[in-house]
Amino acid sequence: MLEKKYLTPRQIVSELDKYIIGQKDAKKNVAIALRNRWRRMHVQSDMQKEIVPNNILMIGATGVGKTEIARRLANIADAPFTKVEASKFTEVGYVGRDVESMVRDLVEQSVNLVRLSKKEAVRERAEEAVESVILDALIPPVRTAPKSPSAVVENGDAEKMSDAELNEKTRERFRQKIKSGEIDERKIEISIQSGGGGNMGMVGGGMDEVSMMNLQDMLSNVIPKKTKKRKVTIGEAKKLLLEEESAKLIDMDEVKDEAISKAENTGIIFIDEIDKIAVSSKKGGGGGPDVSREGVQRDLLPIVEGSAVSTKHGVINTDHILFVAAGAFHVAKPSDLIPELQGRFPIRVELENLTKDDFYLILKEPKNALTKQYEALLGAESVSLEFADEALHELAELAFHINEEVENIGARRLHTVMSHLLNDILFDIPDEISANAKIMITRELVAERLSNLVKNKDLSEFIL
Ligand SMILES: Nc1ncnc2c1ncn2[C@@H]1O[C@H](COP(=O)(O)OP(=O)(O)OP(=O)(O)O)[C@@H](O)[C@H]1O
Ligand SMILES: [Mg+2]
Repeated sequence: MLEKKYLTPRQIVSELDKYIIGQKDAKKNVAIALRNRWRRMHVQSDMQKEIVPNNILMIGATGVGKTEIARRLANIADAPFTKVEASKFTEVGYVGRDVESMVRDLVEQSVNLVRLSKKEAVRERAEEAVESVILDALIPPVRTAPKSPSAVVENGDAEKMSDAELNEKTRERFRQKIKSGEIDERKIEISIQSGGGGNMGMVGGGMDEVSMMNLQDMLSNVIPKKTKKRKVTIGEAKKLLLEEESAKLIDMDEVKDEAISKAENTGIIFIDEIDKIAVSSKKGGGGGPDVSREGVQRDLLPIVEGSAVSTKHGVINTDHILFVAAGAFHVAKPSDLIPELQGRFPIRVELENLTKDDFYLILKEPKNALTKQYEALLGAESVSLEFADEALHELAELAFHINEEVENIGARRLHTVMSHLLNDILFDIPDEISANAKIMITRELVAERLSNLVKNKDLSEFIL
């Protein structure tokens, strides 16, 4: 695997370029932030503690790539990543403690990542163990009472193998068959574990989230795991048992420790819609939702500034977690956030509105470009789909136009336009349009299917 973690800032940007069009400034700044974490890890330890991440505030209209950049960044960094909507904390029923749930989510992600890599590391050993379990179910080993070797020689026919040896030979043959998958269809009965204590719905009451989780964890360790007998094919058994056998080989305490430190040092938390918890200075007079918004900001503060949060996997320090916040800031301004919070997001990047040319490139270039997605979808039906270049220009133009006329939803508009364009084709395959057909999307086709709709504002408000 590519050593993703050690990419230079320029390499990080060019990785991001594979998915995101434009937004140079934002890419550059997140690349620096990411590389700085690597730099920090290589600093002498007394200074290391002092270096805190420069959290980033991304400002830009909807659908211009804010979330996409953060998500791809986490991918590149192979870092635990979690995304929350700040406005969620202002909803009814919110309690201050909830804000910490984003840190717990991050740790959960981290545990998953670490567990996955450990699982990969023990894979071979686990597979062998699985084969043994299946083999025992198919051909149980004969338990020979230990006899002296001389006794075997005396009683046994030279030609005839002892039962034990025969059994061992047969088992060896079947072990090969299990390995090669040639008897994957055959059914066997295996016993598999069916969960632990389950959900302790009945406890709770006045208890807070963390003690609740700890209690659940404790109970599920104390209550013996039930095993259940099931008849499954050998192929299925392999999958089911692999989970169990790898779990036996993985030391969960080690996973937890590693996961906590991975989240502490490389974790990225993306706080979306942060503008929704800013209190616009224009609106004046407090009360109601504004109070709760400011409350959420105050609750966020210790987490962003660095504090210890207890999770069911252990206590995590949030000092070095990278926070990326994003918002459109149409109504409220970044300066409407409480000063302490503003100070914690020193890097401001503005994302530009996307142009027609950006739209054209977004349709065509990214690794996951919409055109490529639809080509792949139709490919599954053995139908080839191709877009003429002018057709893409026309689509970009139309999408841009609708954004101006109806509502600006950024690149998301391309999704609605594209799905409307291809709707009939998607419906007609494979009944009317059969496999091996070649479909070329021309400019004329785009015009025919979309132009009227675009001209009629009322229609496009509903359909596009
Ligand atoms: N610059 C871009 N390059 C490529 N694709 C983009 C770009 N901007 C947006 N997209 C596409 O548009 C969709 C929405 O983008 P994204 O989720 O990043 O929006 P956002 O800026 O987070 O908006 P919001 O403020 O509504 O959360 C995604 O599917 C993404 O692939
Ligand atoms: Mg978003």
